[in-house]
Amino acid sequence: MSEPLRLGIAGLGTVGVGVIRIIRQKAAQLEARTGRKVVITAVSARSQKDRGVPLDGYAWEADPVKLATRDDVDVFVELMGGADGPAKESTEAALKAGKDVVTANKAMLAEHGQELALLAEGEGRVLRFEAAVAGGIPVIKALTEGLAGNDITRVIGVMNGSCNYILTRMENANLTYEEAFAEADGLGYLEADPELDVGGIDAAHKLALLAAISFGTQVKFDGVQLEGIGRVTIEDIRQAADMGYKIKLLGTAQMTGRGLVQSMSPCLVPATSPLGQLEGGTNMVVLEGDHVGQIVLRGAGAGEGPTASAVMSDVIDIARGLRLPTFGQPANTLKTTPSANSGTPAPYYLRMTLHDKPGALAKVATCLGDAGVSIHRMRQYDHVDDKAPVLIVTHTTSRDALDAALTKLPATGVLASEPVALRIEEV
Ligand SMILES: NC(=O)c1ccc[n+]([C@@H]2O[C@H](COP(=O)([O-])OP(=O)(O)OC[C@H]3O[C@@H](n4cnc5c(N)ncnc54)[C@H](OP(=O)(O)O)[C@@H]3O)[C@@H](O)[C@H]2O)c1
Repeated sequence: MSEPLRLGIAGLGTVGVGVIRIIRQKAAQLEARTGRKVVITAVSARSQKDRGVPLDGYAWEADPVKLATRDDVDVFVELMGGADGPAKESTEAALKAGKDVVTANKAMLAEHGQELALLAEGEGRVLRFEAAVAGGIPVIKALTEGLAGNDITRVIGVMNGSCNYILTRMENANLTYEEAFAEADGLGYLEADPELDVGGIDAAHKLALLAAISFGTQVKFDGVQLEGIGRVTIEDIRQAADMGYKIKLLGTAQMTGRGLVQSMSPCLVPATSPLGQLEGGTNMVVLEGDHVGQIVLRGAGAGEGPTASAVMSDVIDIARGLRLPTFGQPANTLKTTPSANSGTPAPYYLRMTLHDKPGALAKVATCLGDAGVSIHRMRQYDHVDDKAPVLIVTHTTSRDALDAALTKLPATGVLASEPVALRIEEV
């Protein structure tokens, strides 16, 4: 039997406590599965309050950097969060002190992933982050191991359960965005800074990590075209449903001849597709490989149990001696690729309200036609106060052509509201 694997855990919040529970409950299985004991030697948090799990037998370190460099720690488990500050300082200190690191911290990796991966690999250590993307769904393992024989052609998914919860509640309970947001907040589903969720930032962190692994590129979070769900209205949701679609905060990453497309924005997906049927706080990641075709992974994207399950997957790999580069290939071989400044062509959903004037619709159609955007389907709803809501689904077009048409629309004088344009993603 090998020596025990000794963990130092920094952060005793939702995820940290979940990891401690699994290790306490499953000591025998862990030993059977890895051939060695997995033990916690030391822990750290800001305060020494009751956590609902026994902490006796673990040394206490107020300073996570000290914890990260202790002689009796083999693996530093970083579960504090934050892109910089103590999380980054202690991760760097652990790697430099010859420790492996497991983290759930998408913000830190999305901002500093390349630098930290280079450091880890330079020190001969591993830095693992299964829990940072889509909670309990083993998507990093799927990409770096199960699908390693493929060229990944596209990654697409719903990666923020709170946004999906809000959009689902708007549709199913006929709530406004503000009402659904307040409900999600009341249930504790939103981060302390809700903009991280509804602004799409948290999901964009995850997408940037998946893109790096999928396309062998350096993580480029600032290359994600980002739009949150704050402008989605109940009318959009109803009218999209009327046309056979659902609205989701959708992440898409794809390598094109113009560079890497990374986009996180509200999109329409067919209501009958797996993504269209995804309800509530669940996550779904769809991976497309040149040999395997399409793989759909679905599961809990957050929460104590699912996230701790993913942390344990990394710990168990280390205990078993599986040592993979952070992003699936050595960090010094990851390419720098330009970001494509617009996505691949797609059909678009356009919603606008027109003044009730003769020829108004014709003027809109001309504007679109002049920019090379052709109309696939159009629906006009009943006039209210001399204003007519209009819905248009275009044929596949580039975002640039659509924007050219949208820029010219105000000059027609027929618009009673700013048009809403949402991409339709075929999946
Ligand atoms: N919660 C989820 O469902 C989920 C899912 C996926 C990924 N993650 C990621 O997992 C990480 C942890 O999330 P969480 O939800 O468990 O957070 P959390 O409940 O807020 O817990 C954070 C923990 O870190 C401790 N901490 C913060 N600053 C510290 C410092 N300077 N020194 C020592 N300890 C410090 C806190 O101590 P005190 O308790 O004393 O304040 C707390 O125990 C984050 O990176 C998050 O993005 C979370």
